[in-house]
Amino acid sequence: MTDESRVRLFNEWAACYDDAVTDAADFPFMGYARVLHTMLDRADVQPGMTALDIGTGTGNVAARLMAAGAVTTGVDFSAEMLAKAREKVPGVTFVQADLLGGWPDALHRRFDRITAAYVIHEFDAPTKAAFLARLAADHLTPGGRIVVGDIAFPSVAIREQAYARWREAWDESEYYWAADVDGDRLRAAGLCVAYEQISACAGVFVIEAARSDG
Ligand SMILES: C[S@@+](CC[C@H](N)C(=O)[O-])C[C@H]1O[C@@H](n2cnc3c(N)ncnc32)[C@H](O)[C@@H]1O
Repeated sequence: MTDESRVRLFNEWAACYDDAVTDAADFPFMGYARVLHTMLDRADVQPGMTALDIGTGTGNVAARLMAAGAVTTGVDFSAEMLAKAREKVPGVTFVQADLLGGWPDALHRRFDRITAAYVIHEFDAPTKAAFLARLAADHLTPGGRIVVGDIAFPSVAIREQAYARWREAWDESEYYWAADVDGDRLRAAGLCVAYEQISACAGVFVIEAARSDG
């Protein structure tokens, strides 16, 4: 169920979002450009592939997917973010929907690549795992890949140190990743997971459906 106050927050943020993230020097967006660069590298998009960018915001990842040759769709629940995205990247199809609400008809299909930058930390740990497992099962083509770039730490212990360091900027209503326990949770949900730390507060996960040996 959509939390209307979250939608409002992102709507209000849309006008200055790109200024806040571009070249950010501190938590939580430190390393933003490198995270997006790594995501695109790990996505390894080939021309003609299909891609879905979830929580697309102003379309920064969607623009890169399209430039790499993917037929790209972006989804977000914020009308204002999508207005910016449509202005910036007219070649991408944008759909307004809540990722945790009813899945929109336009997205009832499979994609070669699914990307998610700085959005899945909105979901608590069990929701993250269930959501990503469902995406992999229902919306990835065989051999497809999900690439997540987000506020993340290698372990719970390092996340605790980061909390002490950045307590004032830490949003207590968000769920920043700890790659050790969250990775295990994703594996328990049947996914193959690789993680790399990109900055002191962000990392990239590459997630694939586990192959059956049978
Ligand atoms: C921090 S911004 C990231 C935007 C973009 N991916 C980027 O990296 O620049 C998070 C985005 O996720 C969207 N979002 C958050 N929760 C969502 C949900 N439940 N359903 C759809 N969009 C959501 C917000 O509206 C916002 O545009």
